[in-house]
Amino acid sequence: MPKVTITKKDATWDFDADQSESVLYAGLRQGLDLSYECATGTCGTCKARLVSGELDQGWEEAPGHSYIKSARGEFLMCQSRARGDCEIRVPGAVAKIADDQFQPSHRIGILKNCQAVTHDVMRFDVELDSAMKWQAGQFVVLESPAVKGFRAYSMVNFDENGSSTLELVVKRFPNGQFSDWLFDVLKAEAEISVFGPLGKAVFEPELKKDIMCIAGGSGIAGMMSILSHGSSTGYFNDHQAHLFFGVRTPDDIFFYSELLEMAKQYPDTLSVTIALSDEAQDEKDPQQPNNMMFTTGFVHLAARECQIDKGNCMAYIAGPPPMVDGALRDLLTEAGYSATQIRYDKFG
Ligand SMILES: Cc1cc2nc3c(=O)[nH]c(=O)nc-3n(C[C@H](O)[C@H](O)[C@H](O)COP(=O)(O)OP(=O)(O)OC[C@H]3O[C@@H](n4cnc5c(N)ncnc54)[C@H](O)[C@@H]3O)c2cc1C
Ligand code: FES
Repeated sequence: MPKVTITKKDATWDFDADQSESVLYAGLRQGLDLSYECATGTCGTCKARLVSGELDQGWEEAPGHSYIKSARGEFLMCQSRARGDCEIRVPGAVAKIADDQFQPSHRIGILKNCQAVTHDVMRFDVELDSAMKWQAGQFVVLESPAVKGFRAYSMVNFDENGSSTLELVVKRFPNGQFSDWLFDVLKAEAEISVFGPLGKAVFEPELKKDIMCIAGGSGIAGMMSILSHGSSTGYFNDHQAHLFFGVRTPDDIFFYSELLEMAKQYPDTLSVTIALSDEAQDEKDPQQPNNMMFTTGFVHLAARECQIDKGNCMAYIAGPPPMVDGALRDLLTEAGYSATQIRYDKFG
């Protein structure tokens, strides 16, 4: 089995890696806390430099390649596979994955219960061959035998004892291969490869922070997991949570009944604002409590109005990249948040 060695001035780490998995997944699986964000070839965060050995660079058109200089031996760890023993350099520190984090691993899953929840959003389950533990806000990557490459999806559910069922949502992407396969091609249960849990935009109740969640479209997935964790442990008895959920029109809203129930359960500490960017809500739901509101406009602009003491707040952002960038800009430059108070996942 080929060996990948990471050399730093003060230390050396090595791990096994072969053509069956990327350098990133091999390193994470063997307990190294390597740098990444999307884990699927778009962000460039997993940049490393090949010192010796040979790699298969994987997906040639990966957007993350625009952040690297191939002529200097740079490559994306989440896409590249070792062809033999390799020595690599990575920017920043390398450490072991902390004991209180869950080390990712490979599993087989059966894709089940696909169900359309709007015209372009599908809810589905993945039944794993063994239970997995994850932190609320994390994601897994899935690969179908019908579509080349892993895609990232955030867990909607949360169970502190772990679970062998992952509840996920997928928004249909224009000409998106995985989402087209789910919507058009898949007619029965299918076996898929699963790797995870992954991601650092996690809810940590021990920090005892109030939370603000800003979600665009399917970015609501990880926020549902965070709200589910907070709700099941009584966190919102003592801490505030403000959720801003942005969609285009009233027909694009999903998880409405779940959010309504949560708002009713925590009238004093939790608020839900649904921001409609293209069309106003014409009729008020008579069941809608005062802490559940509708507004028009972009979700990150709605979040500007959030009445929360930012001194003790952690902000979570997830969704399409332009929405995440807008929200990041607002929180950092207008609202005075520090970078350590913001955790985000860009869905692209
Ligand atoms: C951290 C994170 C969490 C996410 N969570 C969700 C979620 O909960 N719900 C949701 O709807 N979306 C989520 N996304 C977006 C999701 O991963 C997909 O990008 C989206 O579903 C479109 O996939 P597609 O196959 O339909 O589109 P495509 O345009 O076919 O593919 C989109 C992505 O797939 C990967 N990819 C494409 N081709 C290849 C290839 N040949 N080899 C390797 N990789 C390839 C790339 O990452 C690319 O950006 C998340 C993304 C990230 C980064
Ligand atoms: S983590 Fe590899 S490109 Fe995003």
